[in-house]
Amino acid sequence: NEIKIFSPATVANVACGFDVLGFCLDNVGDNMVIRKTEKKGISITNIEGFDLPYETELNVAGVSALAMYEVLDVDFGFEIEIYKNIKPGSGIGSSAASAVGSVFGMNELIGRPFNTTQLTEFAIKGEALASKCEHADNLAPALFGGFTLVKSVSPLKILEIPTPNELYATIIHPQIEIKTSEARAILPSKVALSDAIAQWANVGSLVHGLHTNDYNLIKESLHDGIVEPYRCKLIPHFKEIKESALNVGALGVGISGSGPSIFSLNKGLETANKVKDAMQNVYKNTGIEFDIHVSKIN
Ligand code: HSE
Repeated sequence: NEIKIFSPATVANVACGFDVLGFCLDNVGDNMVIRKTEKKGISITNIEGFDLPYETELNVAGVSALAMYEVLDVDFGFEIEIYKNIKPGSGIGSSAASAVGSVFGMNELIGRPFNTTQLTEFAIKGEALASKCEHADNLAPALFGGFTLVKSVSPLKILEIPTPNELYATIIHPQIEIKTSEARAILPSKVALSDAIAQWANVGSLVHGLHTNDYNLIKESLHDGIVEPYRCKLIPHFKEIKESALNVGALGVGISGSGPSIFSLNKGLETANKVKDAMQNVYKNTGIEFDIHVSKIN
């Protein structure tokens, strides 16, 4: 009648794949407990780690749980406990981890009536509370694992993309908060055709590189000429971090989600650790506080 789950952190906006391409980290995430109760409805009974609302309708995990609960015709309810490790506003899918955790756990407890795409549909409602728009590029990798591409949100269609075996991510998180809603507000509503052509060429070739384990092609494709030029201004020393990582062998570097976290993709754990040292040296010299992780994509 109770399930304990690990709800993973994710990187969305993988370079050229703004709003569509994301991947899942295997060692950073939240813990949650979901429990069936005699009392009907959804209640949040414990939150640790960060100060988040207990009111179901104001909590991301609560809103996605309610979206599922409304279509269930049951005479029991659910309680949710949240042990949050992913800092809200850090750019590694904090709200997505909460949104998917509740619906994944509930689905397990009632014999899995919903498939993973349907769970993503419920979780979108929770994610929208945090980011003020319905996007699924963190939710999909959190639920499916690995790399995912959100082909469309309405109707929701998600593609699972294979992950080359030696691919590791390094993610540095300077301790400032960027709200996704604000990072979206600074983006232009129109882009130049020449920028769009370069971007969709890169998305296509990145996906091809992931399918064929072609690390050189992945490296050539990890660019974002559309969103990064605007959002990088919100992140302290973004350009130095990027250069320092590329200098020691990162395949590519980009803004994780809406920032301020910065991710690199690397071939091999050794390179990922070198990138970790190079990135942290940049912030050490400036006094900016940060967290840093090296993770397999899983
Ligand atoms: N694609 C979303 C955005 C991800 O950048 O607005 C936010 O985590």
